[in-house]
Amino acid sequence: MLIRRPKRWTLPESAATPESAFFNRRQLLAASGIGAGLILSGGMGDAARAQDGSPIADLFPAKRNEGFTLDRDLTPEEVNSRYNNFYEFGSQKTIYPTAEEYLKPRPWSVTIDGMVEAEKTVDIDTLIRAMPIEERLYRHRCVEAWSMTIPWTGFPLKALVDYARPLSGATYVRLETFGDAAMAPGLRQVWYPWPYVEGLTMAEATNDLSFMVMGAYGKTLHNQFGAPLRLATPWKYGFKSIKSIVRVTFTDQRPQSFWEKILPAEYGFWANVNPEVPHPRWSQASEKILHTGEQVPTLLFNGYAEEVAGLYTGLEGEALYM
Ligand code: MTE
Repeated sequence: MLIRRPKRWTLPESAATPESAFFNRRQLLAASGIGAGLILSGGMGDAARAQDGSPIADLFPAKRNEGFTLDRDLTPEEVNSRYNNFYEFGSQKTIYPTAEEYLKPRPWSVTIDGMVEAEKTVDIDTLIRAMPIEERLYRHRCVEAWSMTIPWTGFPLKALVDYARPLSGATYVRLETFGDAAMAPGLRQVWYPWPYVEGLTMAEATNDLSFMVMGAYGKTLHNQFGAPLRLATPWKYGFKSIKSIVRVTFTDQRPQSFWEKILPAEYGFWANVNPEVPHPRWSQASEKILHTGEQVPTLLFNGYAEEVAGLYTGLEGEALYM
């Protein structure tokens, strides 16, 4: 997120996969007879994923929830899947080959612990199959002032909260990413406070918009999107949308997130989008739509004020917009 470290981790030779090594998408689509809908969704390895051995392939395409649509075109998958922030794989945007090579999203389990009736560790596919799956079109606004629009597949975080059965004293949800360096070379950069952690209040976590994502563009998540399970909180800056989650902890202590630990003067707990509150080093008044290059005004709560503004009544003394 635009911070410079003296030593930057660089791609290992083995990770620099030439583009030609990826599937030829159109050939695969033609061969499999998959139609225009999927072609529109685009992306490398599409057809392969749609009919691959993924244990959740049968859940796609999920029914779209028309309550969450957009007034902007979707970002083509080719653009989205090659411009990512996922520091576990490096600090540059082109981490996709490294994520594809190292991250192993199966087998995977998620631990639910802290202030819950009973702590448990559950296999990712068992968890996903216990949830109400749907597709939603969401905006995504990075704190770096670029934005995308994405068709996510997943389930409301509220459904996971209900499944976890938290105790009444729990006021926050803390989410944690894997910390296994064998799956992500960036984790060897010891100056970062791994693992990546994020948090929400219980009121935020149970808001309709908080969405747990296990798919995008009509199929299983690419590794670089945060497979096998990530968060999407579209009214907040993108760094809140933690990827590759392994632990969900219910607590009465406000979690300190990854970026807050690194640069507390620039990145806070709340991180709600607000065009009138600049980042200490740049304006947040507008954003670049990644796939068109167009510069457009940023909206309060990234356009979701109607859904979430009420969450912050009485919290005006907090640093809500950083
Ligand atoms: N989650 C983890 N575990 N590690 C990261 O580096 N980056 C965050 C967020 N979640 C990050 C993460 C940031 S800064 C952004 S903008 C979004 O993921 C980027 O999501 P995208 O790559 O799908 O656009």
